[in-house]
Amino acid sequence: MTLPSKVRVVEVGPRDGLQNEAARIDTATKLELIDRLGAAGLKSIEAGAFVSPKWVPQMADSAELLARLQRRPGVAYPVLVPNLKGLETALAAGATEVAVFGAASEAFSQRNINCSIAESVERFRAVIERARKAGVQVRGYVSCVLGCPYQGEVAPAAVAEVARTLFELGCYEVSLGDTIGVGTPGKTRAMIEAVARHVPLKKLAVHFHDTYGMAIANIYAALELGVPVIDAAIAGLGGCPYAAGASGNVATEDVAYLLAGLGVDSGIDVDALVNTGAWISELLGRPSNSKAARALLARSARTA
Ligand code: HMG
Ligand code: MG
Repeated sequence: MTLPSKVRVVEVGPRDGLQNEAARIDTATKLELIDRLGAAGLKSIEAGAFVSPKWVPQMADSAELLARLQRRPGVAYPVLVPNLKGLETALAAGATEVAVFGAASEAFSQRNINCSIAESVERFRAVIERARKAGVQVRGYVSCVLGCPYQGEVAPAAVAEVARTLFELGCYEVSLGDTIGVGTPGKTRAMIEAVARHVPLKKLAVHFHDTYGMAIANIYAALELGVPVIDAAIAGLGGCPYAAGASGNVATEDVAYLLAGLGVDSGIDVDALVNTGAWISELLGRPSNSKAARALLARSARTA
């Protein structure tokens, strides 16, 4: 199998990472994080979420953040929107790309966005229609593609159905999220193959959490199938407030190290990325979850 020659890494740390950190990060620090990630070569940086501040207080400053954001040319700054109210606020704040987020599991949909999968599809239909009228691209997420914290196993056919719906509604790309990080490469392959019967592989992204240390193996399985987009969070930040026990997202540094080793072009400056991960980890007062970053930092300390 041939790996893609080029991969786009979608950095989700400022949103998926910081939404679940106990330490509250102020807007200026979030802006500096986003700027450093852009300087390290990331071309897609998820900047915030226009969700209820009662549900996720960490994202309550997303409008202020977008208003103050210094945009780099060629970089996209998507934000999550769960409904029309979120979309209208995001548009007023200057959003140029948004993401809707559904789930392959009924139980997770209820806990995360307080509605059934069918109800979420109707919300997303309205959001996508309005966003496209405003000239704003919409990305789609499917959560719990390899397991659900509330209902356990999730069938590949259920994932394929939601992914197909989001794609047909007009999402330009569908990100498949192993929200609780329970997947293994064989299950990952079977799930992606089921989805790819309905959505072109080139329109898929993968989004792994590293709870069981399987994220990089799963990403490699996805690359072998030809998936060209990988979501990751700097320093492996995050988890999900509605997925108890889920650890952080796969670390962007680990993904960049993997891609560099495979000779796959990601446009990322690994040193700049590692320094950014060290900086935000220190601010959060905890060690980085990136093994590659820890090793690279130790190596440069030895040779200094
Ligand atoms: P609800 O309580 O059912 O909403 O929440 P509602 O329509 O009944 O409204 C209740 C109140 O919320 C009202 O205010 C609304 O105005 C307000 P009140 O009258 O009580 O003062 N409201 C809003 N406020 C701000 N922005 C909005 C908004 N909508 C309503 N957009 C809702 C429904 C969807 C809003 C809520 O469940 C919510 O915000 N959920 C988001 C939870 C979230 O962000 N979860 C983390 C996302 S991570 C994820 O999904 C996984 C992913 O990362 C992939 C992976 O990691 O695998 C994508
Ligand atoms: Mg995530």
